[in-house]
Amino acid sequence: MANKAFTSSTQVVPGVNRVPRHIAIIMDGNGRWARKRFLPRVAGHTRGVEAVRGTIRAAIERGVEYLTLFAFSSENWRRPVEEVSFLMQLFIKSLQKEVSRLHGNGICFHVIGDRSRFDPVLVKAIEAAEDLTGKNTRLHLTVAANYGGRWDVLSAVNRILARQPGTTGISEEMINAELSMSFAPEPDLFIRTGGEQRISNFLLWQLAYSEFFFTDALWPDFNGKLLDQAIASYQERERRFGRTSDQLIAAKGGEVGRHA
Ligand code: IPE
Ligand code: IPE
Ligand code: MG
Repeated sequence: MANKAFTSSTQVVPGVNRVPRHIAIIMDGNGRWARKRFLPRVAGHTRGVEAVRGTIRAAIERGVEYLTLFAFSSENWRRPVEEVSFLMQLFIKSLQKEVSRLHGNGICFHVIGDRSRFDPVLVKAIEAAEDLTGKNTRLHLTVAANYGGRWDVLSAVNRILARQPGTTGISEEMINAELSMSFAPEPDLFIRTGGEQRISNFLLWQLAYSEFFFTDALWPDFNGKLLDQAIASYQERERRFGRTSDQLIAAKGGEVGRHA
């Protein structure tokens, strides 16, 4: 079934809001934050959870509707086993500790990624949080865990093929409807902390027309002020979606890419 809920940026020129509706963040630099302080890498992950809390609060205050955070990539299993298991425990503990607060703040919680390798305790905690918060609408908070952009697209295609064996033509709409973030518009703004300028297999399909903002700040130091910097940078951009600048100016009153 085609996903009619949101505009595809490659099929139709989407409307542009002054405040990005959807912000997706690669939370990078926890290990370096810890190393600078002669602490074990995992201390950076613990502090990273604090930054998540502050970022959620700031996003709500600014009127962001969707906040998507990359917490663990499908490639992060390559890390030392102790670090991986610390991250998994931290995820479980944070979820158990924060779920009622998320719910109390009207947040609808989602997890995207392959759950098949997770401890059953984690899977249960995720399901419980999604069930409890499923009807909330103030902010859609999505945590990408054991997520990979290629996995997402391949899973979508494979689901389509499994449902309709012999399918010969797969449309963009069919894929959009099957992606793990089919419930959300495409990210308007992509932020990566930690100084690296790469996507690291995050939302490959959905970032087609997102605006990118990179900062050297390490994730545990991220806060509302840095979020405002990213939003201010976003507001300076001219989102042309393939058109010329002159076309945008001529289209005054219509669907324009420049922020109102
Ligand atoms: C991001 O910080 C958190 C995860 C990938 C889980 P890093 O752990 O990648 O920190 P650096 O990049 O090594 O500093
Ligand atoms: C990307 O960070 C994944 C997350 C933040 C969860 P990494 O630190 O794993 O990315 P690379 O390996 O440096 O590209
Ligand atoms: Mg990193």
